[in-house]
Amino acid sequence: MSLLIKNGTIVTAETQFIGDILCREGVIVEIGTDLTSKDAAETIDARGKYVFPGFIDPHVHIYLPFMGTFSKDDYASGSKAALMGGTTTLIEMCCPSRSDDPRAAIQLWKSKAAGISSCDYTFHMGVTRFDEGTAEALKLIVADEGITSFKVFLAYKGAFGIEDTELYQTLSLARELGVVVTAHCENADLVLETQKKLVAEGKTGPEWHEPSRPVTVEAEGCHHLMSFAEMTGAEVYVVHTSCIPAVEAITAARKRGVKAWIETVAPYLTLDSSHAELPNFEGAKYVMSPPLRSKEHGDFLWECLANGTVDTVGTDHAPFDFATQKHMGHPAASQCVDASLNLTGTAGNFTLIPNGIPSVEERVKLLYSEGVCRGRIDLQTLVRCASTKAAEIFGLYPQKGAIQVGSDADLVIWDPQWLGMISAATHSMATDYSAFEGRQVQGRAEHVTVRGKVMVRNGGWVGETGWGTFLHRSPKP
Ligand code: URP
Ligand code: ZN
Ligand code: ZN
Repeated sequence: MSLLIKNGTIVTAETQFIGDILCREGVIVEIGTDLTSKDAAETIDARGKYVFPGFIDPHVHIYLPFMGTFSKDDYASGSKAALMGGTTTLIEMCCPSRSDDPRAAIQLWKSKAAGISSCDYTFHMGVTRFDEGTAEALKLIVADEGITSFKVFLAYKGAFGIEDTELYQTLSLARELGVVVTAHCENADLVLETQKKLVAEGKTGPEWHEPSRPVTVEAEGCHHLMSFAEMTGAEVYVVHTSCIPAVEAITAARKRGVKAWIETVAPYLTLDSSHAELPNFEGAKYVMSPPLRSKEHGDFLWECLANGTVDTVGTDHAPFDFATQKHMGHPAASQCVDASLNLTGTAGNFTLIPNGIPSVEERVKLLYSEGVCRGRIDLQTLVRCASTKAAEIFGLYPQKGAIQVGSDADLVIWDPQWLGMISAATHSMATDYSAFEGRQVQGRAEHVTVRGKVMVRNGGWVGETGWGTFLHRSPKP
């Protein structure tokens, strides 16, 4: 099976040029001009279009048992939504509960994707407990299961969150194994105490979610992780960085020699804390952690992308329905699904709203429309932060994140002129709402290929459920 893409503007993280790409047996076999192929099953004319390497979302949740419920997507809807938006590889957080066996957990997460995912995928292994058996289990997960990144939560006390001794042991082991540790950085105790205080004061609506986890809480979490990374020599990656003080805590550590990567996510660049203040409980749609911040933080993050301080943009896609799941935190919610989650002892408050914003489908569109079209980032930065850098950090490069001979033929032919509107009525995600409802956007993924197979054609779905494969990774030497 071969595919020839002609006359497109090929864009990589370093350069751009007009050319042709010939793909055969799932990989790129030639890049040049005036390429022909007699056996090309399909030729796509990409004149006037950009050809990007398939985009990589390094932070999604597809199967997520969380806050007394389950995230809404499965791999059929989640991977289709990703591909419709130009994302050809997903890295999902495998998030076992503290009582789960880690090896059983990675098997479970793999089983949720195998035979169902349309795009390629891998996982960050969540370390939610560290006891006598954990080191051995994690070593086997790295060696046998092809997983070379861990995930720790400094937040969510009593659920995914780990203690400092466990953090130290996880980072020490990661250093030994050549594994990068991704981390959710918020001080769990500060969150818990502030939540209790606010709810006791009758401050229960979604607008109080942000004040319960202010920037200081996130900056402390980042500083905390940096101290542990400095002491252990581990390589760390801070997920969903939302604010100026958090970035500052990490850049200060970088100056001390800590090897730390910074991820932000599409919601922080394109939404702000005013969304969580919308009336009629609409604000619940915008509850995620760390919370959406005031606009100056988003502006700063755009600058950090442009100057390379922030490395990657993911989504933290965590989809929950508005009508049912987000309403678990509504004042009139009749019951709390899991009493242990009700930290404050009162029914119906912001602490019970499942955290997360669905956005796997919209990330690249938003980055292009609000980043490239508004002159905040250039095309190389778009490719770097939404594809290439994640491939490099997480051991997928140059199989993924590159347009090179030998790379997988994961390609996005992007129409830069397309104008449209985001809506839940037309999205492929399983949620009943879009956080970007009604937003006008420019540019879309017109054709998307995964290992040479066209999955999106003329903006419409032609993909095959189950075409996606698990990406087996090897640790860094
Ligand atoms: O609000 C969020 N971020 N939900 C998903 C879980 C996490 O913290 O990544
Ligand atoms: Zn998180
Ligand atoms: Zn997450």
